Amino acid sequence: MAHWHIGVIGGSGLYTAHALEMAQQINVASAFGDPSAPVTTGLIEGVRFTFLPRHGEGHRLAPSDINYRANIDVLKRCGVTDVLALSAIGSLREEMAPGDFVAVDQLIDRTEGRARSFFTPGIVAHVGLADPMCPRLSGYAAAAAEETGARVHRGGCYIAIEGPQFSTRAESRLYRQWGADVIGMTAMPEARLAREAELPYALLAMVTDFDSWKEDGAAVEVSAILEVMRQNVERARATLVRLAGSLPAVREPSPIDRVLDQAFVTPPEQWD
Ligand code: ADE
Repeated sequence: MAHWHIGVIGGSGLYTAHALEMAQQINVASAFGDPSAPVTTGLIEGVRFTFLPRHGEGHRLAPSDINYRANIDVLKRCGVTDVLALSAIGSLREEMAPGDFVAVDQLIDRTEGRARSFFTPGIVAHVGLADPMCPRLSGYAAAAAEETGARVHRGGCYIAIEGPQFSTRAESRLYRQWGADVIGMTAMPEARLAREAELPYALLAMVTDFDSWKEDGAAVEVSAILEVMRQNVERARATLVRLAGSLPAVREPSPIDRVLDQAFVTPPEQWD
């Protein structure tokens, strides 16, 4: 029988491993270098969750310094079936207010210089990324967050910037014109790599600020972000508990489980 095993990549302030029962911390090695931290694996409502803090223990890793490939690889090696990413985001829309959750459905990538594929050099593979999120996991996560009383926006376009600086006011306004709804620094290349690893990926993001686009508004500051995240910790934990309780007993296969079947250009006999 196919069981769910949810990998949770926790963002700033979201060290939600304390939701786990029978938790065990494990150092998992990756061929792609060091992951952000050891994983913590355990059960919630009988469902296995494996948790990885994206910025490392004690929040030591800036978005540009995270080894996204190692993080996804380690979750895959742990046998994770699906990845739920949690992260803090700025809002580019009036109606998405601090404290709200957004089940992101689209991504724009403005990051630079991050390793974004498992397949270079030597093997050429092109996976589809038109719909970068898994609608099934995203739907379960959004419903679980709603049950905790959170205001959840189902759908939203996330623009990933390189950082670590926040955006200028001009950039913030430009991104609004491009159709981005929220802004962050980590969903790319995380989502790309999850797709290459054949892991359905969903991003439940938490609005912490209005970035810097508002004519009359103060610009984003870290202190405001941390305060909203502090308030969100319990809600994130409760969301995982509801999610665990709402997953069907049997995990039906997802088309994302097999995306590599169609992806390779280099024939297998040419692989080193
Ligand atoms: N994370 C949280 N708020 C952000 C913002 N305004 N810009 C980029 N990343 C963020």
